[in-house]
Order: sequence, then structure tokens, then C-alpha cells
Amino acid sequence: MRWIAQFIGYPDDCGGVLVSGGNMANFVCFLVARAAKADWDVRTRGAGSDAGRRLRVYGSAEMHTWIQKGADMSGIGTDAIRWIPTGADLRMDVDALRRQIVSDIAAGELPFMVVGTAGSVSTGAIDRLREISALCREHNMWFHVDGAYGGFAAALPVAPDDLRVLNLADSVAVDPDKWLYAPLEAGCALVRDVEALRAAFAYHPPYYHFAQHALNYVDLGPQNSRGFRALKVWLQMKHVGAAGYRAMIAEDIRLSQMMAAAVDRHPELELFTQALSIATFRYVPADLRATIGEAATEAHLDAPQSRVGGPTAARRRGVRLECGARGSLCAARVHRELPHDRKRC
Ligand SMILES: Cc1ncc(COP(=O)(O)O)c(C=O)c1O
Repeated sequence: MRWIAQFIGYPDDCGGVLVSGGNMANFVCFLVARAAKADWDVRTRGAGSDAGRRLRVYGSAEMHTWIQKGADMSGIGTDAIRWIPTGADLRMDVDALRRQIVSDIAAGELPFMVVGTAGSVSTGAIDRLREISALCREHNMWFHVDGAYGGFAAALPVAPDDLRVLNLADSVAVDPDKWLYAPLEAGCALVRDVEALRAAFAYHPPYYHFAQHALNYVDLGPQNSRGFRALKVWLQMKHVGAAGYRAMIAEDIRLSQMMAAAVDRHPELELFTQALSIATFRYVPADLRATIGEAATEAHLDAPQSRVGGPTAARRRGVRLECGARGSLCAARVHRELPHDRKRC
């Protein structure tokens, strides 16, 4: 856990727990935030309308769907989520975020958490984490970063400025089974204040009455029985090393940039975005180029969505291109594979 924190520039005296993946890592952080910021004992009294003020959580319109499961399972309900619009760059509009928080406070509600996304699932967009952190401090809110996909790119010397400030977050979720190339399942929740993590999960019935200061993961997350996930992550770290991971992540990004450049040169492809290791683009037949933006052309270009059943994957020389179709939009996310993956092919 300490190694992961150091690798992404997070304080290495943080608390943390390995869980199944990104959803669970984010959910753990979400529950810590809820317990820390509700101004009543939310673990005992719950989050129902008679328990306290209405809790509100904020994130961009590009935020991953884990937040819906989290809001639902925690009992605050999905209506508590404020989906903040993004700009053309698909990053959260921080002015709109500020306006929504101010308006919710005026309505007597309790804004408790902002989720900044560090590498969105669809396009790799990275929110303005520095600005969001300042806003959270101003309003005494929990600042969480969902870096399930993109967080490990913070280790690169050329990381975008917003990825360099993960240390400002109260909690961060990263997924070793994504950009540390670990086999499923391996997600990681890091929380700056280990006592906040403990305060969100610990119960001490007589049969779990361990010494208060021992590190018992049963106190730090929803699972009691748990597998030894750390072993595979640690072994791979020993094998690849920090420099190796940096080189592999940088190469994935370089491949995606090369792909975007190739798409941009192609007369029948239209590039939309390129960030981290994701490039998005669509196919536009040459005879429709001149009418892009017109309703009939856009409808025609969107039609393939109804015919493409879901994500398709193509594998080429150890590089996996994950292609999802949204309208005629393709998203290619590049991961390099380690030998254990290739065996499964
Ligand atoms: C940004 C982000 N958050 C959360 C998740 C959920 O991760 P998992 O599928 O491991 O639960 C993903 C998955 O791709 C993701 O990209």
C-alpha cells in the first residue's frame, strides 16, 4: 500500500485497503467521506430524511457509474448525486460546481463530497483537481479522486499538472488491475487519515476484539474474510519495478497518441479526443464529410450503435485495443499485456 502511495505521489502514511476493483475502492472512500462529513452519526442513524440534512455528492457528467451504486447502497439515494456539466474538454466545469454547491447550501442541504475524476472511463479526461481541492477546502467537503484508470499515470515525470496533485485529496481510488497490469481482482482505496477509514468501518464485538492499535483490515473496509490480493500486486511490483511501470505506462500513452495522429491523417476517420491512453474517433464516409453536423448526416452516422451489440476487443502483438461503440464513435484504450494475460488469450 505504501509503495502504491509513493508511486502516485500520495502521502505514504495514509490508510489503505485492497479490494476487488475500482467500484469497490471508490465505494470504500465514499463511505469514509459520508461518515466523516455528515454532522450526525450517520452510521447509527442512517441517511434517511428524518436522520439529518440531505447529503449531496458532486462529480462530472463523465463520472463513472460506481457513484450510482454507492449512493444507492449507502442509502443516500441516487437523487443525491449532482452531475456537473463538463466543458468541451470533457472536464468538470468548476464554476458550475461552485454554483451548485452554493445553491444546495442555501437550500439547507449538506454538500459533503466532490469526486474529481483522474482519467474518465470514456475519454481519459482529467478534472481540474487543484481547483476542485480548493473549493472543497472552502466548503469543508471531502475531496475524493477516482483514479481507478488514470491514477497511475501520476507517476510519470511528464504527468499533466492536475495528476501531480493527488496528494491534495482526502482519498484516492486506483486500480492495480488496470494500469499496474495486475490480474483481476485488485483495486486500492487510499485514505489520507487512517483513523477516518477506521471510523467508517470498525465494529468490535467480542469475537473481533483485537488490540486497538494492530493493523486489522477488518477495521478498514467492508470485508472481513478477504483473499491475499497484495501478494500478486507485490510480486509484480518486484518483477517490473517503478521504472518498468513508468516505461510501460508511457508507452501506452505514446501508442494512443500515435493512433490519434494516424486517425487524424485518415480521410474517412474523424478524431474526437486523445487523453492518457484513450483515443476516440468515428468513421465518416468521404461523401458525408461536407455535411458533418447536419441532422440527417449525424443520424446516419449514429445508426451503427443499434447494430453493434457492445464492446469489441481486438488484440494485436500484445497490445489490447478495447473498442466500444457509442453511435459511430469508437474508443480505443491501450493496455500492454503481461505474460499472464497472454496465456488467457
Ligand atoms: C474511472 C473509473 N472508475 C471506476 C471504474 C470501475 O472499476 P471496476 O470495473 O474495476 O469496478 C472504472 C472502470 O473502468 C473506471 O474507468
